[in-house]
Amino acid sequence: MSFKTLDDLEPGQRVLVRLDLNSPVEDGTVQDNRRFERHAETVRELAERGDRVVCMAHQGRPGGDDFVSLRQHADILAEHVGRDVHFVPDTYGPEAVEAIEALEAGEVLLLENTRMCDEELPEEDPEVKAETEFVQSLAPEFDAYVNDAYSAAHRKHASLVGFPLVLPAYAGRVMEAEYEANTAIAEREFDGQVTMVVGGTKASDVISVMNALDEKVDQFLLGGIAGELFLRAAGYPVGEDVGDMDLFDDQWERNADTIRALLEERGDEITLANDLAYEDEDGERAEVLVEDIEEKTQGFLDVGTDTVALYNDVIRDSEAVFVKGALGLFEDERFSVGTVGVLEAIAETDCFSVVGGGDTSRAIEMYGMSEDDFSHVSIAGGAYIRALTGEPLPAVEVLEAEAE
Ligand code: 3PG
Ligand code: MG
Repeated sequence: MSFKTLDDLEPGQRVLVRLDLNSPVEDGTVQDNRRFERHAETVRELAERGDRVVCMAHQGRPGGDDFVSLRQHADILAEHVGRDVHFVPDTYGPEAVEAIEALEAGEVLLLENTRMCDEELPEEDPEVKAETEFVQSLAPEFDAYVNDAYSAAHRKHASLVGFPLVLPAYAGRVMEAEYEANTAIAEREFDGQVTMVVGGTKASDVISVMNALDEKVDQFLLGGIAGELFLRAAGYPVGEDVGDMDLFDDQWERNADTIRALLEERGDEITLANDLAYEDEDGERAEVLVEDIEEKTQGFLDVGTDTVALYNDVIRDSEAVFVKGALGLFEDERFSVGTVGVLEAIAETDCFSVVGGGDTSRAIEMYGMSEDDFSHVSIAGGAYIRALTGEPLPAVEVLEAEAE
């Protein structure tokens, strides 16, 4: 690892910690999720060592319904940490500074939503961010900066790239674990077969991942909207919008040529569904073989059971399996068979496994699987895709540069 971690940080200090507590908000209520649970471990470790722990995080973006105060986040975080988490409705002004200076060893404080500070958001170089009043007025209150927000590391925001230039900078435990697991596919050598399950709604993500991981992945198993677009490119009458659907045709326009070329050049690495599931007149799950489809008349909401069996055979023969994107509409139990079936097969084998993309990993808790059966379940969305496709993560790069 090329950055400093909490193992390199002397205890008993004043530490500024960047977390990613960005969460779903329903009717104004912040929903608890695994980001709290994960970051709580970093916060607890620092508090237990007798550090004064001041946390920063963002929520939503200005203009969005989920752009709310972090007051509720402080309470949820406190439950997971098992200690009080004070909250101050200020990002870096006098109220924030007063609360920071009042902190005792082992106490935890959460500052207000970083995106309520005008200097946070515009994407700018770390050198520019380091000069902001936000960074310049908070930094003198601290001995060290810890970045635990791997899942926001693709953003060049002040709280992520500015502070590491002016304070000794360290990676938190979440940052460390995510970095190691998510770069494994690019960095590690596996002896056996490396398989990637790719689904979800965006064909362009699937294409980027396939292009970036050409050398690393032996088999891609496809599903979701992206998988249906590949079936269309293979000549089947699917992967198009029917009724008032608006999922396929635009993407087809933009990606058809690329998908056809991928199938042509690397068809032996790409496995497509051979059956699909839909909702019949009685509202039940029904399945059809892809080769029996004459015309698409309704939406397909999952891969079929034959496909799951086929994919599971590949998974059982794999040394490493990476998952990006769901194979169907798993939120509806009737159409969870593909996503859950594949995840269960991964859980049962002892391959190295990483599950990422915020949504897909939600299936693990929804269907009562245990995270312990996977090598890593990522809490990152955009940053996970960037890691897989080899795009740089600016907030990680700054940590690495400062460690040199
Ligand atoms: C996320 O929730 O994916 C990260 O926190 C990044 O949030 P953003 O997409 O609003 O920048
Ligand atoms: Mg396992």
